[in-house]
Parts: sequence; structure tokens; C-alpha cells
Amino acid sequence: MTINYSDRIPNNVDLGSNRTLQRALEHWQPEFLKWWEELGPKDFQVADVYLRTATSVDAKGWATYGYVRMPEYRWGIFLNERDPNRRIGFGDNFGQEVWQQVPGEYRATLRRLIVTQGDTEPASVEQQRMLGHTAPSLYDLRNLFQVNVEEGRHLWAMVYLLHAYFGRDGREEAEELLERHSGDADKPRILGTFNEPIRDWLSFFMFTYFTDRDGKFQLKSLAESSFDPLARTCQFMLTEEAHHMFVGDTGINRVVRRTLEVMHELNTDDPQVIRNAGAIDLPTVQRYLNFWFTSSLDLFGSETSSNAASYFANGLKGRPDEAQYEDHIAVEQAYTLELPDGSGGTKSEQIPMRNAMNEVTRSSYVRDCEIGVKRWNRVIEKAGHSFRLALPSTRFRRSIGNWAGVPTTPEGVPMSAEQFAAHKQAWLPSESDQTFILSLMHGVHQPGKMAAWIAPPDRGINNNPVDYEYVKLH
Ligand SMILES: [Fe+2]
Ligand SMILES: [Fe+2]
Repeated sequence: MTINYSDRIPNNVDLGSNRTLQRALEHWQPEFLKWWEELGPKDFQVADVYLRTATSVDAKGWATYGYVRMPEYRWGIFLNERDPNRRIGFGDNFGQEVWQQVPGEYRATLRRLIVTQGDTEPASVEQQRMLGHTAPSLYDLRNLFQVNVEEGRHLWAMVYLLHAYFGRDGREEAEELLERHSGDADKPRILGTFNEPIRDWLSFFMFTYFTDRDGKFQLKSLAESSFDPLARTCQFMLTEEAHHMFVGDTGINRVVRRTLEVMHELNTDDPQVIRNAGAIDLPTVQRYLNFWFTSSLDLFGSETSSNAASYFANGLKGRPDEAQYEDHIAVEQAYTLELPDGSGGTKSEQIPMRNAMNEVTRSSYVRDCEIGVKRWNRVIEKAGHSFRLALPSTRFRRSIGNWAGVPTTPEGVPMSAEQFAAHKQAWLPSESDQTFILSLMHGVHQPGKMAAWIAPPDRGINNNPVDYEYVKLH
């Protein structure tokens, strides 16, 4: 499974043995590069960036470090090794052999799932393209670019599947993945969250913590798929994805640490005094968290979903970590939802488990999100403050599903629209919060130097010191 780097497209799928496929992808490659130059990180294309590149999918080779100019990054096609004994792990075909080709009856659905996943990858690169200018350090700048090139590679992963298994339709979809653009009025990206530009680094850290984690859970569901090439693709993507969430987790941690330092130095928790000192007060961190967590919750779809039920029944998309469940058929179980009753209260409703798969996945996601919040709170607690960050309820500020448009407190208690409007400023980033955060965003591009609103990281990348020259600007 060593990656062949002598091919124009690095790969571990023996691309050279399929000339037609190889030529089709070599045709797509310059289109991808053109997209990268136009809509990838703005103004840093000639910088030498200390990047990680995979040279094989095993533990030894998947993380090789060195300086690369981003347009010369070796984007390629890497799948986990095939397990010849792998069986379908859930749904109506449980226990049967997994598929190496796409069954005709699931072709359109699988293509849609792959395109929807694929669309988010370049979308996030587009959303983040202006952030390089305001990076709080070279270390952070490098991490941004690492995330960006890997999202580019995830697009490659999905495009490979489209080209290799979906014929002409797949090739057309691959082209369209470069034609839709984040925030474009005529051809926007498929999912709402991926059309919002990310203008500041607090949002970037929230995005990599919360929205990349949605990506993790989507990939975990697809990694269970009976369509084996899709499963193996997603398994390898998850190894790379972990770093993106690390960037968010440690980024928020460092923001909080710096704020606590300022609170200690000035002996205050007055948000305005903390802001005047150039740090981000904790209530503002909470408001950004509320915004990004809730917009990521919507990405899982409606609580009740007949699509999700048929994905599960047909073995296309499973539950994350399907092996942890006892019953992989899930026809006899029910799931209890707490829904708005339409008159300001809530009611319980039981639905068949298969129809609740979105909610099952969303709940696992929420539990995963809690881990970082606990860690950040330990830092605050250790510093002797009573403030605590918290995930809002999954009912709060929803745009999709049963709670869409139902005003609630962050704890999920339904309230009137007037009451909500009166509290909104305290719960979600206001225009003045955004203006303040943007006012802090100035690029710090000297090795080892940090912007005043963020603490340095505990350690550098690949055992290098924090003041390593992670990006050589020219
Ligand atoms: Fe990704
Ligand atoms: Fe990611």
C-alpha cells in the first residue's frame, strides 16, 4: 500500500493499471490546480510551508514533514488497505459480502452522498481563503494551510470515487464540485454552513472544532458503508481529519488561557476591561461557541428522516462506530424524541429507530463536543474563576428539523419570539462583538511571536520548537 509518487497523481490504488481512469483524472488535475490558485489561500501560494504529506497509509508513512509550496503539494488518492473478510455491518443485508462495485439500485443515492460530502471539502478552503493575512502566528498560519491542503485532498478522495465508479455522471459531478463556490449567488455550495465566509480566527477555531467534527461523524458513518471503496476512503480521511479538530480544540484553549492571564494581571472579569487589554472576554467566546455549535448541529439533518432510514436499511450509511451497537438491524427498536408541542411546551414522541439515525449520530457528536468543553473549563477552574463554557441545547437556534424557528433559551426552554429577541445579544455574536473580534485580527508573521489575544501552543509541530519558521514567506 505504499503510495506511488512517481505517477503524476500520487496514489495507492494502482491507478497506472487503468489508463482510462488515469487519463480522466489527469484531465481533472489542472482544473483542480486552477481552482486552488483562484480560490485557495490568497497571496501565500509562493510561501514555503512546513507541511505533512502522506507517503503511505500505515503508521510509518502517513505523516511525512517538509517544506512545500502549496500548489506543489502532492494531492493524491489514498485508501485504507482492503480487508478481504469485511462484511456488511448493518441494515437489511447484514452479514453479506461488502460491494466492490456500486449496485445499480443505489447508484443515484450513493453518488448524492459522495457529492454532498465532497462539496464541503473545497467549500471550507474557499471560506478560509482570506485568513492567512491575519494569522496570530506562523505556527497558526502553517496549521491553517495544513487544514486547507488536506481538505483539497479530501476533494480528490471523493472525485476519485466519482470517476472510478460512476462513469460519465461521476465525471460531470467532479467538474461541478469545482464550479459551485462558497457564498456564490448563482452556484452556492450545497450545505448552508459552508456558504458563510470565515473572517476571523476565533470563528476559524470554532469551525475546526465544531464543523470539522461534523465532518468526522459524517465520515465515520460513511466509513461503515457496504460500498467498500467508499468505506476505505473515509477511513483514511479520518486520520487526517483528527488534526483539524486538534487545531480548533487547542486554538480555543489558547484563547481562553490568554484571557485568563489578562484577567489575572488586571484582577478583573469585566469584559470591557479585558477587551481594552486586547484579549477576548469569556462571554464572547461562549457566544461564538453558541453560533458555530448550533450551525453544525443542523448539518446532521432532521430528527426524523425517511432518507436516513433507507440509507441504513440499504447499508449505504451506518451509525458512527456501528460495532459498538448490539443490534445492527435496528427494526424493532424505537427512539424517543422531545419535540415542541406548538404551544410553548414540549412533547415526547416515539419513532422507529431507523428513522432516528440522524438524531443518533447527532447525539454521538454532541458527546464528542463535550470533551473539549470540559478541558477548557478545567483551565478556567484551575485559574480560580467560576465562569464555565457550555454547549447550548440541541434545540437552540436551529434552522433544520423539528426545532427550526422555535425560540428557546440556550438551555432549550421554549420562549416567545419577543423574549428571544430581548436576550439575543447575550447569546449570539452581535455586530459589535464581530467588529471587536475583527479589530484584533492582525497578521503576526515573525517566528515565535504571538498575537496578544492568544497564548502560545504547548508544543510545536513534529517535535519542532514553537518558534520554528513554520512558514517561509518571500
Ligand atoms: Fe475534510
Ligand atoms: Fe477537516
